[in-house]
Amino acid sequence: MSIVCVEDYEPLARERLPAAVWDYIEGGAGAELTLHANREAFDRISIRPRVLVDVSRCDTATTVLGSPLRSPVIVAPTAFHGQVHDDAEPATARGTAAAGSLFVVSTMSSRPLADIAAAAAGPLWFQLYLLRDRGVVVDMVTRADAAGFSGLVLTVDTPRLGRRLRDERNSYVVNAGASPANVRAGLPVSLHERQEGISGLAATARDIFDQTLTWADLAWLRELTDMPLLLKGIVTAPDAALAVEHGVDGIIVSNHGGRQLDGGIASLRALPDVVGAVAGRCPVLVDGGVRRGRDVFIALALGADAVLVGRPVLWGLAVGGADGVEHVLSMLTDDLEHTMALAGRPSVADIGRDAVD
Ligand code: FNR
Ligand code: LAC
Repeated sequence: MSIVCVEDYEPLARERLPAAVWDYIEGGAGAELTLHANREAFDRISIRPRVLVDVSRCDTATTVLGSPLRSPVIVAPTAFHGQVHDDAEPATARGTAAAGSLFVVSTMSSRPLADIAAAAAGPLWFQLYLLRDRGVVVDMVTRADAAGFSGLVLTVDTPRLGRRLRDERNSYVVNAGASPANVRAGLPVSLHERQEGISGLAATARDIFDQTLTWADLAWLRELTDMPLLLKGIVTAPDAALAVEHGVDGIIVSNHGGRQLDGGIASLRALPDVVGAVAGRCPVLVDGGVRRGRDVFIALALGADAVLVGRPVLWGLAVGGADGVEHVLSMLTDDLEHTMALAGRPSVADIGRDAVD
């Protein structure tokens, strides 16, 4: 059977991956309420199509923080691509660049930042977890800078990992070949050594993530680099206002794909509040549950400048390596273009609040 939409990759990826890796990727925290709420929020919104508009040329192109993109769809940071494909993040980087998109590389990437940058013909941002060992943080940010990364994304919804019950049941550990290549300091054995009923990744995060991180630490990060700073994991108006007051260059509305606080608000539902509080002072991006062109369209109509996609990129990587990643991203762009045509909004700038209900 032919693959004609992003979701066609999901069962194919599942067939290819070990069950515990599949559960790690696909699962959410707790009862997976937020995981499902992310999708439901998109499905509840309707589009108001305009007619008799010339849609012979629909243009999905946009620019985010100085990076021109073929469409407002970028690749979310996800950990351990070495678990998904032997070519790991360099393949994701190749596929992303071929699709004219931007790749946000995780702190937990399986390959060195320099190798990923060497494979990428397009823009890269580095996603940072603030680790207790500040020496490791300085080392990683310095290397991202040197490798030409053009944005720093600090994830703020993960002082520790959410309780992913699938991972606990599977006593999930990360295989050595997928180990985080850029965290160059003694990683705890819990990452690789199976302990019954415990997620080795969650135990590791408890050890190495800095749970004392507050707004006051942003100044320290600012001093480290000239890269634009984005915060990922903001879902309320007061936090969005604080982020702007602290001078951030962008906000990513996200609940980590439902993997952190279970029962937390769907990211699409949080988007309008954040957009209102930011009031145009910096770009606002959103992720969580984006699977179709209409989802991208809806996010833009509700005020997002771009969306990020997580799991679908990993499905594409698992099935087809760099080509699979390119195909997933291209299908999203094509489906956005198609939605724009049928909705009578031929450019990204035409997708305003009045386009959805
Ligand atoms: C993630 N996410 C994530 N976020 C982050 O800031 N750093 C990370 O290392 C990871 N790792 C990670 C691994 C896997 C397997 C998944 C599925 C997700 C969260 C990610 O950036 C994003 O917020 C969500 O994946 C978006 O939701 P969708 O598109 O997967 O529904
Ligand atoms: C995850 C972490 C690593 O969601 O961000 O699995």
